[in-house]
Amino acid sequence: MQIFIDSANLEEIKEVLSWGIADGCTTNPKLASQEKGKDFEANIKEILKIVNGPVSIEVTTNDLNEMLKEAEKYASWGKNAVVKVPMGIAGLKAVKILKEKGIKTNVTACMSVGQAILAAKAGADYASLFYSRIGDMGYNPTKVVEDTVKIFELSNVRTKIIVGSIRHLMQVIDSGLAGAHILTVPYQFLALMSKNPKTDESIAEFLEHWNGYKEK
Ligand code: E4P
Repeated sequence: MQIFIDSANLEEIKEVLSWGIADGCTTNPKLASQEKGKDFEANIKEILKIVNGPVSIEVTTNDLNEMLKEAEKYASWGKNAVVKVPMGIAGLKAVKILKEKGIKTNVTACMSVGQAILAAKAGADYASLFYSRIGDMGYNPTKVVEDTVKIFELSNVRTKIIVGSIRHLMQVIDSGLAGAHILTVPYQFLALMSKNPKTDESIAEFLEHWNGYKEK
């Protein structure tokens, strides 16, 4: 299982890269818009430069021709650029055309097994299932991930399943157990994963004994 950071914030990305735990990065227009006062192109180019792995950059249109124009531009920014296209007929057409041009794609906002199958059939390198948003609709996201993984395995599908829309730490474990190839996780949850009160208590206890010993 790989871990990506779901962020367009350079400081967060740099910090997580320094821990040695991030295999890639996903951004989206909402995350990019939160980087107030930063130039979008310069920010993304910097992310592409520092991340030693795939970086997803999402198109900002639902129009096929516009998608293709944006995709070619993003792909020219770095060898590790992956163009995120929205799930839907136009997105699937874009995936097919971009594949022929050798541009990697990630079909985003998949909420069902069927959508992920279509993304794979069109030739996407990645299909992103949105864990919390699937749950918001009353469906069981773990089952959606498990079923997608199973069908992809049965048919030797090479498309990687990214689970995004992580809003609780437990969802990281559930999606990992469901067989997701990649989890894309916001910074706050990656930081939270490193913490446990019993760890802090144990380390404090050891240091207390060590300091007492040294004082004698
Ligand atoms: C994934 O690629 C998306 O950027 C992201 O995980 C969406 O998450 P949200 O549902 O919290 O907006």
